[in-house]
Amino acid sequence: PHSYFSHLRETSPVHWNKAFRAWVVTRHADCLAVLKSPNFAADTVSPYFENRLSEREQTKWRPLFDVLRTWIVFKDPPDHARLRGLMRGAFTPRVVEAIRPAVQRMASTLLPAGEGRHEVNLIEEFAFPLPAWVISSMVGVHQEDLWLVSEWSKDIVEVAQGSLGSGDRRQRAQTAMLEFREYLRPIVEDRRRNPRDNDLLTELITAETESHQLTVDELLGGAILLLVAGHETTQNLLANCVIALARNPEQYRRLKEDRSLVRGTVEETLRFDGPVKSLLRVAVDEVQIGAVTVAKGDRVLISVAGANRDPRKFNDPDFFDVGRDASAQLTFGQGIHYCLGAPLARLETQEALNLILDRYRSVRLLTDRIEYDPKVIARTPLSVPVEFTS
Ligand code: HEM
Repeated sequence: PHSYFSHLRETSPVHWNKAFRAWVVTRHADCLAVLKSPNFAADTVSPYFENRLSEREQTKWRPLFDVLRTWIVFKDPPDHARLRGLMRGAFTPRVVEAIRPAVQRMASTLLPAGEGRHEVNLIEEFAFPLPAWVISSMVGVHQEDLWLVSEWSKDIVEVAQGSLGSGDRRQRAQTAMLEFREYLRPIVEDRRRNPRDNDLLTELITAETESHQLTVDELLGGAILLLVAGHETTQNLLANCVIALARNPEQYRRLKEDRSLVRGTVEETLRFDGPVKSLLRVAVDEVQIGAVTVAKGDRVLISVAGANRDPRKFNDPDFFDVGRDASAQLTFGQGIHYCLGAPLARLETQEALNLILDRYRSVRLLTDRIEYDPKVIARTPLSVPVEFTS
């Protein structure tokens, strides 16, 4: 994918992609401008639902649409600010920081200790369960139901990018969404009666009662979004970080000697091989991006992966360098929708990496070729067998 985006970035930085019916934007400055511009809407779902589905189809898919449209990621001003204010209150540094000891404990039970070599299926044994458990416990999901949440999330994430998916996938997403909501309903009811300290769900509910603004549907939709957004992305960040370090053993050694580089390593992974590859917007007006005039209603695919490798912004961009300042990476988005869970994702990945560095002298990939799920929006390695050596 990087060679395609690099090619576009140099030859056609705002490029009409017929198959995807969207302008693909690959330069850092252009991506940033689109993300910060009020001329692009994040609600890509409503135009699709209203303009491209027949009345009969709309009736059939309304339940799915009705949950998606409560999601903050698809909200535009002024409604976005209202929801953001309520949800931001739940992601206080206190709530996020409170989870740190549990993250450390959980991580340390997942990875093998002891002398010698350890073969580990990184995704199944570590990168999936850690973030899934963290966000599930923050939203009150029972640990034995993690796999259920994961299955629902997979079915939902496929269709969450504006088009509501197609055929079977759309049906699976709708079923998953409704099951998920009914699963969460009694948990939310329980938290309402028994509020907890430093609890994400309690904070969301409290925000609701204080301001009378978060509806039950928004609360349930919000909880689903947090569960969907919170685990696969962090899983892939963690996996991509270990992959990059395994391929660059000199960087691993550097990190072992200087732990102050751990923070920067996570930023560099977000830049170099981030879990989110692109974001979608719709032009609300005729508007200029670089040299191109985009018509009202046109879709724009912001290639975060392309921007993160733009040589105009990052020197030697195809080189993974744990010591560089990668803070301009766009993998958490930018502007009003900037990822609310970023502090949590960073905390989890830094703690995971610290544990790996504590325990192991080196890490090696046990395969030459890693397969990725062929998705436009996410960078998901399917299987990452590694060998850690203590
Ligand atoms: C928004 C990426 C982890 C919750 C976003 C956006 C991106 C993103 C790119 C903006 C979407 C847009 O502008 O269209 C990531 C990445 C993660 C991650 C790369 C992990 C490495 C999390 C976690 C949570 C979370 C752990 C929750 C616990 C959210 C929420 C929003 C959001 C609620 C919506 C913010 C808004 O629309 O105002 N994320 N995310 N994310 N993320 Fe994350």
